[in-house]
Amino acid sequence: MRESCVAVVGATGAVGEEMLRVLERRAFPVRELRLFASSRSVGKRVDFKGEAITLRALESGAFRAVDFALFSAGAERSRAFAPQAVAEGATVIDNSSAFRMDPDVPLVVPEVNAAALEKHAGLIANPNCSTIQMVLALRPVRDLFGIRRVVVATYQSVSGAGRRAMAELEAATRARLEGRAEPREVHPRGIAFEVVPHIDVFVGAGETREELKMRNETRRILADPSIDVVATCVRVPVFRSHSEAVVVETRDRVDLPALQEAMRAQPGLLLRDSDETYPLAREAAGRDEVVVGRLRVDPDDPRTLAMWVVADNLLKGAALNAVQIAEALCAAPTLP
Ligand SMILES: NC(=O)c1ccc[n+]([C@@H]2O[C@H](COP(=O)([O-])OP(=O)(O)OC[C@H]3O[C@@H](n4cnc5c(N)ncnc54)[C@H](OP(=O)(O)O)[C@@H]3O)[C@@H](O)[C@H]2O)c1
Repeated sequence: MRESCVAVVGATGAVGEEMLRVLERRAFPVRELRLFASSRSVGKRVDFKGEAITLRALESGAFRAVDFALFSAGAERSRAFAPQAVAEGATVIDNSSAFRMDPDVPLVVPEVNAAALEKHAGLIANPNCSTIQMVLALRPVRDLFGIRRVVVATYQSVSGAGRRAMAELEAATRARLEGRAEPREVHPRGIAFEVVPHIDVFVGAGETREELKMRNETRRILADPSIDVVATCVRVPVFRSHSEAVVVETRDRVDLPALQEAMRAQPGLLLRDSDETYPLAREAAGRDEVVVGRLRVDPDDPRTLAMWVVADNLLKGAALNAVQIAEALCAAPTLP
């Protein structure tokens, strides 16, 4: 791969920090690294490969000569600055929800739909973290049996809501144990020792935007608008990794040994197929793979299967997927 100038927008955030580690760990060929954050952080220094890099502010010309701009600073910043980055010549890989449903912007999980990258026009969207891990587990199911309907309940860690949410879980847990009032800035109903069926805002018909994202993004990535998706997205007092109980209604009867074989062959997926080796959030934390356990066919319906799907939301759910997209673009001779 040729060496690139890489920009990371939101470099001090939960995802941004992981992006730096992933770029380092995967030896992404970085010629120059430009790091951006809010005015609160401008001027501070961040370490990359032993070199201290000063954080900058977003401004006109910031992306000139940048090859890849990895955005992870919220949808508002992406809407404001991603078009500028593209105009200045960068290929943007955006972690926010700003462009995910734009038909001109590919929404990509490289192990599932890398071919969608062929049509990009400078901007590529990284899917929602809970969707990424689910579609990776669904891909072999779709390929073998077809998918009619997915019913999923998520158990999402607080790091999915960023650094402030992680700090709040720690402070709230201590406060509750010490009999003090817990902080409730990020989680207004409290998060310590609680499970909260509410992620992002309510958008109508009793559904939250996180649940809507799971439906819309799953259909786009699996390229099948006929798939029904019903999600209940739940925040749990776990720091890192999202877990999901996924029930899939298939078009054809499920052949379990064939599915196990296809899952073992699926890049990016790790199947734990004996009963008690099911994955836990803390074991998935720091891993690149999406881990599947508790895979079983409904005894009452051979066209229904259930599984437990766990992944590190900051890695495969965000930073790793973004870097893999950049790697795929570098590897394709005609791209970016
Ligand atoms: N967390 C996840 O699991 C996850 C997964 C997929 C996608 N995402 C998406 O990734 C994005 C970042 O999430 P996160 O969890 O990393 O959030 P976070 O921990 O709150 O970090 C936010 C980052 O954005 C920066 N920022 C805020 N305002 C800015 C401004 N005006 N100009 C430039 N930079 C600014 C912050 O800089 P300061 O430190 O200076 O405030 C920080 O680096 C969000 O769009 C989120 O939806 C997150």
